[in-house]
Amino acid sequence: MAIMKNRSGCWCVHFTVCLIGMLLLPLPSQSSDPDPLQDFCIGDTKSALSVNGFPCKPAANVSSDDFFFDGLSKEGNTNNTFGSLVNQGNVLAFPGLNTLGISMNRVDLAPGGLNPPHSHPRATETGVLIYGKILVGFLTTGNVFYSKILTGPGQMFLIPKGLVHFQMNVGEEKALIFTAFNSQLPGSVIVPRNLFASKPSVPDDVLTKAFQVEKTVIDEIKSKFGA
Ligand code: GLV
Ligand code: MN
Repeated sequence: MAIMKNRSGCWCVHFTVCLIGMLLLPLPSQSSDPDPLQDFCIGDTKSALSVNGFPCKPAANVSSDDFFFDGLSKEGNTNNTFGSLVNQGNVLAFPGLNTLGISMNRVDLAPGGLNPPHSHPRATETGVLIYGKILVGFLTTGNVFYSKILTGPGQMFLIPKGLVHFQMNVGEEKALIFTAFNSQLPGSVIVPRNLFASKPSVPDDVLTKAFQVEKTVIDEIKSKFGA
């Protein structure tokens, strides 16, 4: 505790510093998911039990393979509307991540390809460029737009938890990034799909009013997403 004696000889207690420190100590850390209560808990993703995460596979059935995953090793097929593919290495694909509070994605982008505006409600994201040239941007809750063009392998970016963001390939060649999250299952709200391809769909009145356009515009956008 920061207790000091000042020149006049009386004990000067730095109450503010101590108090803040003591108040912060019992608070959970900045990590998104709860801390594990055991070394590991390979998720039994097929279990009928519903818990926060997944129940653990019996330890006797755990093998080295449970700690490896090669689902991000292959290039994704970017031959689609957005010209991009996100391969998710979350707990659903890699059950070994269960309770450990981390996950990764692989994002392949064709020239001009876009990983469309989306947000992760349960995680902060970082990413590293492996090759290519990308524009990465995010929006704050105050509608401030931050962006940067990454041009070299190893360059990194950061997307604060829950904020809407995107990556676009602005180079002539393919681009590849790996992203990492402080959640085993960050969740992904893809803005255009969320609003225009939900089931059941958001009422047209809501969308026409929200975007200040005619219903024909909404119909056209919905048709692009097969809704
Ligand atoms: C990129 O933004 C990703 O979510 O992987
Ligand atoms: Mn993301």
